[in-house]
Amino acid sequence: SMVRHYKFSVVLKNTTKLCATKPIVTVNGKFPGPTLYAREDDNVVVRVTNHVKYNVTIHWHGVKQLRTGWYDGPAYITQCPIQPGQNYVYNFTLTGQRGTVLWHAHILWLRATLHGAIVILPKPGVPYPFPKPDEEKVIVLGEWWKSDVETVINQATSTGLPPNISDAHTINGQPGPVANCTSQGAYSLDVESGSTYLLRIVNAAFNDELFLKIAGHSLTVVEVDGSYTKPFSTDIVYVAPGQTTNALLTADQAIDKYLIAISPFMDTIVAVDNVTGNAYLSYKGTDTISAPIQTRMPAQNATPVATNFTDSLRSLNSKTYPAQVPLTIDHSLFFTMGVGINPCATCLNGTTLVGDINNVSFVMPTKDLLRAHYYNISGVFTDDFPARPTITYNYTGNNTSSNLQTTNGTRLYRLKYNSTVELVLQGTNLIAPENHPTHLHGYNFFVIGKGLGNFDPKKDPKKFNLVDPVERNTVGVPTGGWTAIRFRADNPGVWFLHCHLEVHTTWGLKMAFVVDNGKGPNESIIPPPSDLPLC
Ligand code: C2O
Repeated sequence: SMVRHYKFSVVLKNTTKLCATKPIVTVNGKFPGPTLYAREDDNVVVRVTNHVKYNVTIHWHGVKQLRTGWYDGPAYITQCPIQPGQNYVYNFTLTGQRGTVLWHAHILWLRATLHGAIVILPKPGVPYPFPKPDEEKVIVLGEWWKSDVETVINQATSTGLPPNISDAHTINGQPGPVANCTSQGAYSLDVESGSTYLLRIVNAAFNDELFLKIAGHSLTVVEVDGSYTKPFSTDIVYVAPGQTTNALLTADQAIDKYLIAISPFMDTIVAVDNVTGNAYLSYKGTDTISAPIQTRMPAQNATPVATNFTDSLRSLNSKTYPAQVPLTIDHSLFFTMGVGINPCATCLNGTTLVGDINNVSFVMPTKDLLRAHYYNISGVFTDDFPARPTITYNYTGNNTSSNLQTTNGTRLYRLKYNSTVELVLQGTNLIAPENHPTHLHGYNFFVIGKGLGNFDPKKDPKKFNLVDPVERNTVGVPTGGWTAIRFRADNPGVWFLHCHLEVHTTWGLKMAFVVDNGKGPNESIIPPPSDLPLC
């Protein structure tokens, strides 16, 4: 293994999209930001320097950060922000990790433009568990607003209305040709007839789950969220913010130009979003002027298409890559995830949308939680997060009262080091019944079951897949349904769990676990680095 050094300079950059130019926050002036390349077990050292007027942190989404929580990145959870003019060196090891994950800012709204892919190749000489591709291509999906993203978030937090939808979806930073702006460029995936490509697809969008299709071609999914899957063939990929999908593409069609399209998925339409993003699959030897072969995207609320994709995902579970699903449970947890309405004196309608887990809306602390945990500083958080809802109701029924009067708090749930956890995430049908792509920091977990309606603790566990469930770091909690996950809490520290739709996180749909230190010399968290920012 080796050490990989990167320099991330956070700078404002005037960027033109949709025929308009505005300054955006970038890493090294790029949108999307640079791809970080490494191999399994490598040590990655990234020096982040903040040259903008906002506080910044960077999260390495899907990197486990074994005992190195100080480098995880969520602001006020594992570190104080890097202030303007300051820098911080993230230093972590990709122990036993491979595949595609992503990095992104983890403070306020900066993630919209501060993001990029992380590609972790296998150790030298170790092959992929699938046919070797001729080439690899990184495909980062995003969203673009003509207005400032700050305005979008402010609107969503102050009006009690859903957030403004984005003006474009982007593929490697480009929306493709759009109405009223014909000069807009498009990403071109250039292929050679007969060759096979590994596409590393990253959804770095702010609020939108996405479908991706390539006209006339099918894809073979081989990995999600940095974990190998049993290969399966599909003509569409469904990927939520924070999720990644690796898929093989063979250029086995007539030499021509084909449309690559992305479009949003939202099973309950709270806002109509017809905005697609377009790119091209261009065979070498095709002329560049003719129109591409088209493809039809599913409807915005095509739930069966999304469900069909997620239902096809299984861990590879081979001899070399076994699925180590915990078979006994120390902590059995049940969390309701939803959005409701709370009174708000300063808001436009006298009410505000609020995200909550078990009726607790998470309040961001002003001091970082990990330091408070490490040094036993009291008054920063409490460890009394409820293991199950404090108010019970028919979660997925027709709820007339959407006002649950959630309580606010910086409440954490304490897990014993190396204990096993089963967590049922129950979606609720309150004001906004929506799918919640939920991300857990510090771990991968196994998705052992999911279903519609209310989770039934008597019947549903009988159907759990404990053999080859898919392993992920971000999983959808379906609208009007539930998802069950398991993991072993073998990484001490403070670990954030939240909906990866930025607007829901902003509303409070988040909580954190505190995982105690182990006893052995290699089990405890490392001491805080000397350049760890102060609040
Ligand atoms: Cu990708 Cu806490 O986020």
